[in-house]
Amino acid sequence: MATYDVVIIGGGPGGYNAAIRAGQLGLKAAVVEKGPTLGGTCLNVGCMPSKALLHASEMFDAAANHFAELGIEAVAKLNLPQMMKQKADSVGALTKGIEFLFKKNKVDWIKGAGKLAGPGRVEVTAANGSLSSLEAKNIVIASGSEPSPLPGVAVDQQRIVDSTGALSLPEVPKSLIVIGAGVIGLELGSVWRRLGAEVTVVEFLDRITPGMDAEVAKTFQRALTKQGMAFKLASKVTGALASETDVSLTVEPVAGGAAETMAADYVLLAVGRRPFTEGLGLDSVGIMPDRRGFIETDHWKTSAPGVWAIGDVTLGPMLAHKAEEEAVACIETIAGKAGHADLRLIPSVVYTVPEVAWVGQTEEELKAAGRAYKVGKFPFSANSRAKINHETEGFVKVLADPATDEVLGVHMIGPSVSEMIGECCLAMAFKAASEDIARICHPHPTRSEALRQAAMGVEGWTMQA
Ligand code: FAD
Ligand code: NAI
Repeated sequence: MATYDVVIIGGGPGGYNAAIRAGQLGLKAAVVEKGPTLGGTCLNVGCMPSKALLHASEMFDAAANHFAELGIEAVAKLNLPQMMKQKADSVGALTKGIEFLFKKNKVDWIKGAGKLAGPGRVEVTAANGSLSSLEAKNIVIASGSEPSPLPGVAVDQQRIVDSTGALSLPEVPKSLIVIGAGVIGLELGSVWRRLGAEVTVVEFLDRITPGMDAEVAKTFQRALTKQGMAFKLASKVTGALASETDVSLTVEPVAGGAAETMAADYVLLAVGRRPFTEGLGLDSVGIMPDRRGFIETDHWKTSAPGVWAIGDVTLGPMLAHKAEEEAVACIETIAGKAGHADLRLIPSVVYTVPEVAWVGQTEEELKAAGRAYKVGKFPFSANSRAKINHETEGFVKVLADPATDEVLGVHMIGPSVSEMIGECCLAMAFKAASEDIARICHPHPTRSEALRQAAMGVEGWTMQA
């Protein structure tokens, strides 16, 4: 039987980063992955293909609708099969890249479904049904998550799709109803809207993107509405009937009242994701997932000795960089080092136009905690680079402690904010004051000056607006 220092179940961002770090630290490591490629949800059907389509559809929209104002005359014609092919090519290159990194770091990829089979044992069932066993000093569960179902709305990946289906539709829908105004619904809804679909988003709550600062969410909804996306808030879908050509949904007001029927040629169900622990054999080591199916951990240790868990299958934001952060910290802890990950400083980004990015606490969270705060704000309409590029929608908001000036949260909506939020994470990790950001030189002309100006605004000395 093969013996390892660490056997990792799942080859997504949690699993592959754990394996690479283990290899770097001289630990003998293997990853058991049941899918045909490495990279998990993120590389195969998540972050990467969605960003490929977001980029391509943004280019299409620019060519179709915005080139003229720049003095460029172009005729934009969609070639959907080529758009899908370039997405698949990029995904293929990325998953191959992980295989290369495994070889470089002497990590074994064991193909098949892994199952805990008592302390220190993992049983692997290969695609052809053959069984093998691995012995491990440490087992890391990184089995990820899957789309949450909604009773009455059966996903068939033909007319009613989840995010995986929505990444590979065979045509641009004439009409698309998205159930759930969360990150997936708005990113993938944006893709198909830009390519020409009429998109209506049905959301249970009376606002979009729960968890996002409410002021930002309002501006975000306004921007998406201007792009032609329609919103039906405070509404719940209670049934769906798919035919070969379209879908009919029953929708009811959450507050009660008459149900109505909505029809579209495709429906995207995006009401959240749930941890994936099916067939993992958790009971063989005495692990009981919590009420919602998450594996509970304390510094990545589960309740079973020698068994660890990271990424989407554990509590916290379901994000690739959170899984990666935990992967490194978990393996460093296993190797006897001081593994560290601060879940309070995991940034969130929505890759739409405008982009939204934030880290730390929202105004609503600070109010709920009874915590005083000061606000500095700066609009992109006053940022010279944004103005020159005709990307003036949005603002940056810095929240700081009134006594110490420590930055408590940064919330941005606007151009390239996905690239600006890392600076805020760094600042907050070093417990920066807003004045630290305000007094650090930022290059001109860049959108990052909007962050500096917002930080200046905390003490009321914004200079450009
Ligand atoms: P996963 O990536 O889900 O990997 C788990 C792996 O374990 C899978 O490959 C699975 O096949 C394997 N597995 C499960 N059980 C077993 C078993 N018993 N044996 C063997 N293998 C097993 N996050 C971001 O940070 N940024 C984004 O832009 C972003 N975009 C997204 C877009 C979409 C459409 C979706 C769906 C998700 C997106 N996410 C994004 C979330 C991100 O994909 C996840 O947070 C991330 O993949 C979690 O990593 P993980 O390693 O915990 O799990
Ligand atoms: P989500 O949790 O972001 O949003 C789900 C939305 O559906 C919420 O607004 C919720 O109120 C709504 N909802 C729930 N039940 C409903 C119902 N019955 N009817 C109508 N609306 C309902 O989940 P989503 O969008 O599915 O994404 C899952 C996860 O994937 C996210 O939490 C995120 O962590 C990750 N992700 C991250 C991305 C990024 O970082 N850019 C991109 C895509 C996904």
